[in-house]
Amino acid sequence: MSAVYLLLLLLPVISAQTFHWGPCPTPNVQSNFTLEQYMGEWYEIEKLPDIIGRGVCIKENYTLGGDGIIQVLYSQVKDKRWFLEETAVVMDPQEPAKLGVNLLSFLPYMPYWVLSTDYTNYAVAYSCKDVFGAFHFDFAWILARTPSLPPLLVQSAKQLLTSQGIGISKMTPTDQSCKH
Ligand SMILES: *[C@@H]1O[C@H](CO)[C@@H](O)[C@H](O)[C@H]1NC(C)=O
Ligand SMILES: *[C@@H]1O[C@H](CO)[C@@H](O)[C@H](O)[C@H]1NC(C)=O
Repeated sequence: MSAVYLLLLLLPVISAQTFHWGPCPTPNVQSNFTLEQYMGEWYEIEKLPDIIGRGVCIKENYTLGGDGIIQVLYSQVKDKRWFLEETAVVMDPQEPAKLGVNLLSFLPYMPYWVLSTDYTNYAVAYSCKDVFGAFHFDFAWILARTPSLPPLLVQSAKQLLTSQGIGISKMTPTDQSCKH
């Protein structure tokens, strides 16, 4: 997730497939977003390509601490299950669906916007960073509380992304067939 994002910022050449001219799109985010309800485990169903998430059975577990800091445990299977710890925060209480994810403390927060979620079945998340408004790199994830999501929900998640001006032609399903 954000590790990918970080690497893309550090190694823009590799990210050719997520590179676009112009500034980031400005999609609508989930209204009345309730952070507490978003916590817990999310399985990655589909995503725009990234560098870190090359394994299978990718999932994330979000835990809200008393200090308002969210611990994110990202994991995927490559031979064995491999873990990555991140933190996230709400950047502006006025816009709670716009999180910032921090992979390494000395690096700036990466945007992580929850565009849509019903909290109990699916979520659509988006991250975009532009460079002087001249070009941008973006990432999108369709997440679910279970290792699979009904095709109609995947379809409507994709329609939502498209309607917000986000290109999804590079989106690929994440293999969730291994034992969890
Ligand atoms: C958001 O919450 C407020 C207050 O609870 C409510 O009045 C409003 O209808 C909600 N909006 C949406 C889009 O759910
Ligand atoms: C997510 O993390 C919390 C806190 O570490 C833990 O209590 C919970 O069991 C985890 N959930 C899953 C599904 O692993």
